[in-house]
Amino acid sequence: MSYDVILPAAGSGKRMGAGKNKLFLELNNKPILIHTLEVFEVDPQCRAIYLAVKDEERTFIRSQLQQYKISKVKAMPTGGDERQHSVYACMKEVVAGAIVLVHDAARPFIEQATIHRLVEAATEKGAAIAGVRAKDTMKRVENGIIQETIDRSSLWMIQTPQAFDFELLMQAQVKAEQEGFLGTDEGMLVERLDQQIQIVESNYENIKITTKEDLVFGEAILNRRQG
Ligand code: CTP
Ligand code: MG
Repeated sequence: MSYDVILPAAGSGKRMGAGKNKLFLELNNKPILIHTLEVFEVDPQCRAIYLAVKDEERTFIRSQLQQYKISKVKAMPTGGDERQHSVYACMKEVVAGAIVLVHDAARPFIEQATIHRLVEAATEKGAAIAGVRAKDTMKRVENGIIQETIDRSSLWMIQTPQAFDFELLMQAQVKAEQEGFLGTDEGMLVERLDQQIQIVESNYENIKITTKEDLVFGEAILNRRQG
């Protein structure tokens, strides 16, 4: 079952504090961005990659794609100020016809099996997003004071990939733009339509490289996988 993937890569990595886009930092001597791209490059079901980038980083990224022999990138539109806008910029380039997967370029450890389960679920249901069950006790806090404990059994921590029927995601994005709605994931936009979204249980290794500690976790994951 074929799919297209949108990879937003136009962030600035403020929480990483590296003074540059965190996606250029290396894990075991390879940039995070390349680790993520390679997952899709080698997946026969992936038809094309759409990469949102910053204008000033486009030339450097092009040279990296060549160096690492990444051939599936079909377009590199300019990202926006918000992640949602970067994803939308890619959607405008996507050729309709396959399931569209949105995946943070900062999550290099996504496994092919999870991607394929998401694509299958989205083909059947229209929308499917990856997540893992909450592990900790969850409480709602206001002004530093516990208000309540929330039943953990129904709580999931949401990740990417998120997979959608192309027309459905486009409709959700157009509506969000028209109404000035900003979400933290594509799921939030699609929830505003009359549409059910399937959860697909992913894996705790699918972390988003966000702060400095994540670089240590990331290399540990890679070292374990390499045996
Ligand atoms: N992203 C993007 N366009 C933006 C903001 C983020 O394409 N305007 C991308 C990032 O490059 C990343 C993914 O969205 O691959 C998830 O975002 P996040 O982890 O928040 O990365 P940054 O925004 O770069 O980091 P920070 O929020 O710490 O600045
Ligand atoms: Mg961000």
